[in-house]
Amino acid sequence: MGSPVVLGIESSCDETGAGLVRDGQLLGHAVASSMDEHARFGGVVPEIAARAHVSSLTPVVSRALTGAGLRMRDIGAVAVTTGPGLSGALQVGLAGAKGLAYALGVPLYGVHHLAGHVAADTLEHGPLPDPCVVLIVSGGHTSLLLVRDLARDPILHLGDTLDDAAGECFDKVARVFGLPYPGGPAIDRAACTGDPGAVAFPRPLTGPRDAPYAFSFSGLKTAAARWAEQHRIRGARLPLADGAAALQEAVADVLTRKAVAACRVYGVGTLVVVGGVAANSRVRALAEERCREAGITPRVPPLRLCTDNGAMIAAVGDLLVRAGARPAPLDVSVDPSAPL
Ligand code: KG4
Ligand code: ZN
Repeated sequence: MGSPVVLGIESSCDETGAGLVRDGQLLGHAVASSMDEHARFGGVVPEIAARAHVSSLTPVVSRALTGAGLRMRDIGAVAVTTGPGLSGALQVGLAGAKGLAYALGVPLYGVHHLAGHVAADTLEHGPLPDPCVVLIVSGGHTSLLLVRDLARDPILHLGDTLDDAAGECFDKVARVFGLPYPGGPAIDRAACTGDPGAVAFPRPLTGPRDAPYAFSFSGLKTAAARWAEQHRIRGARLPLADGAAALQEAVADVLTRKAVAACRVYGVGTLVVVGGVAANSRVRALAEERCREAGITPRVPPLRLCTDNGAMIAAVGDLLVRAGARPAPLDVSVDPSAPL
């Protein structure tokens, strides 16, 4: 008998995702987002996110099944994000996953959200080479990891952000620039016509004495906010495209420089860039360019698998099932600040 179809459920933030994976193959997935409901507040409102998951979860699972040409009874295991993320939002997904696993009589697997982002790439490019360096860049995380076997070995943390995540920096600066939420895609669009060299934004923690794999984006955020403020004080029009392009260049430069350095130091031949900010056009382009120069293979999942989705959670579930991992007990709880 082959591997079971794994249903993955993601609900850690504002996306409700369901995905179906078997033997490393993506069979179908669907995502609903409550992003528009948060836009007027300038950020995700946890209560609104949790309520949106309640309305969206069942329809999203149903859409994923229909898209894959499968029925409920074809599901052989359920994987669900247990953390990190917003507590109420996570609980909706976990409660739904438990109900399904119990009713179908199939095993339940708790999945770490970041392991999900890493595994997303396997759905497009196949199994990860052992070892690989992974740069996770999202709205809540900016980390460099050394990954071996996702289902069996612990992930080695090389470095993290000391303050804001890269996506958070984009989101907050976008707000100051008067761009809509979420800020990352808005900055990316605005940057298209800008000159990245127009403003010399800082490259935090890139000095010879700085921690090689640590990041810091709060100083960059402040520098961008001050730059915008100076234009306002002078009553000058904000050269938005230039500001966006220069900010994006600074973020992409720091991220890719450190990630490629980590590959060199650890003698690793593959860099995987995942998470919402991996959707950024300049981050993608610069990662490819610098990897090519260094003789490293870059792997970046397609845009639809970069931002939060259920397929990436199903991908981890599928790895766990095939590795013979122990399922979670039905009284498993969420862990909003789960360490890796
Ligand atoms: O991984 P994700 O969907 O959710 C978290 O786990 O945080 O990442 C969301 C983050 C947001 O900060 C969003 O602004 C950023 O990813 N993002 C982008 C782009 N698309 C999404 N940042 C820069 N450029 C983009 N094109
Ligand atoms: Zn995420």
